[in-house]
Amino acid sequence: MKNLKAVDPQVYELIKKEEERQKEVLEMIPSENYASRGVLEALGSVFNNKYSEGYPLKRYYQGNKIVDNLELLAQDRAKKLFGVPHVNVQPYSGSPANTAVYFALLEPLKDKILGLSLAFGGHLTHGAPVSISGKYFKVIPYHLSDKGLIDHDEVERLAVEEQPKIIVCGATAYPRIIDFKRFGEIAEKVEAYLLADISHIAGLVVGGVHPSPVPYAHIIMTTTHKTLRGPRGAMIMVTDKGLEKDPELPDKIDKAVFPGLQGGPHDNQTAAIAVALEEAGKPEFKRYSEQVVKNAKTLADELLKFKFDLVSGGTDNHLLLIDLTTKKANGALAAYALEVAGIVVNKNAVPNDPLPPFYPSGIRLGTPAITTRGMKEKEMIKIASWINLVIEEIKGEELPKEKESRSYFWKEFRRRVKENERLLEIKEEVRASCSKFPAP
Ligand SMILES: Cc1ncc(COP(=O)(O)O)c(C=O)c1O
Repeated sequence: MKNLKAVDPQVYELIKKEEERQKEVLEMIPSENYASRGVLEALGSVFNNKYSEGYPLKRYYQGNKIVDNLELLAQDRAKKLFGVPHVNVQPYSGSPANTAVYFALLEPLKDKILGLSLAFGGHLTHGAPVSISGKYFKVIPYHLSDKGLIDHDEVERLAVEEQPKIIVCGATAYPRIIDFKRFGEIAEKVEAYLLADISHIAGLVVGGVHPSPVPYAHIIMTTTHKTLRGPRGAMIMVTDKGLEKDPELPDKIDKAVFPGLQGGPHDNQTAAIAVALEEAGKPEFKRYSEQVVKNAKTLADELLKFKFDLVSGGTDNHLLLIDLTTKKANGALAAYALEVAGIVVNKNAVPNDPLPPFYPSGIRLGTPAITTRGMKEKEMIKIASWINLVIEEIKGEELPKEKESRSYFWKEFRRRVKENERLLEIKEEVRASCSKFPAP
């Protein structure tokens, strides 16, 4: 990065610092990963300089012969990897991609989306009232059962009662297998489109450790930067089943992405997606996804030994959701203390959470990034014991009920936590362990 250093030492310095941070901590936010150097090089390539509104061989600008080849290559790799007849690789990210699907198929303020409630692990774009999905379309939320599992009977009942045009399955904070077959049957019964949002689990689907939605869903959306380990971005796929239901689907989706919602595609992003898809097709990637799940299961088993309350009792995929209520700890305070100890997770609401989203009862953590670094079961056992020690240190810390007292409490809490010797010792142990597992 010698050019950057010369041209902008401030940004150069910040990048170096962030690189250092990512090396020294356990990155356990389940939606994050370390993209390969190859992916990052493609992302930083001269494709950044090109404008290519339109689609391959149908562009609004000259000079796109090479970009056409690139986009066709990315499409081809995605089609082969997932086994679908049509893919759009242009969405800037997951949220615009979901929005494009709605824009393609729904009449605003009239048609209905049936999606998993945000408070129960769905994504904002699955119909949360604060998101465009909830503001422009009618939304019916479904929920999890008391066991923390998707309540398919409720999904079916709501689908029959409400006749949604789109049913969304897939989640942001759900640790179990998604039963695409059951969702497919429900969608069929009410003649709805089934949109499988596999943003979190795409890498696991490709690696064969999570069932594929391809035989059951009409449309599949995935981000490319989570378990798939590519650049930030997204893809919308149409399955054979989708084509059968609606032969116009590819055209509707493509038109919704461009010119409906977006202008020029980010060709450098397309290049990096193509690289990630190439990497994901390799046998090493299958081994990687298998290890992601093995690591998450080991972590779950170890945390259960320390009597942590895991939503749904464990995990089948790459993530865990911990309800800290029984540990007398709060998710926001825990996430802060864990970061001080070098373990980066996110605070998260748990099903039927009595606390507000900014101070929820739980934390969400996952294994995609630490598995990329080469960590295995042995390291998971250690990580579980560190997590336990951190939570023990902050047990009983209670956020004041009155909003006015909270900022003073936070300030004091942060000071105490930053000076906590046990946490600082763990931070050093984490740093030493991380140094044995280089980030790409
Ligand atoms: C299930 C799901 N869908 C969509 C998105 C949105 O992706 P992005 O953040 O790229 O807009 C996310 C991101 O967390 C997600 O988890």
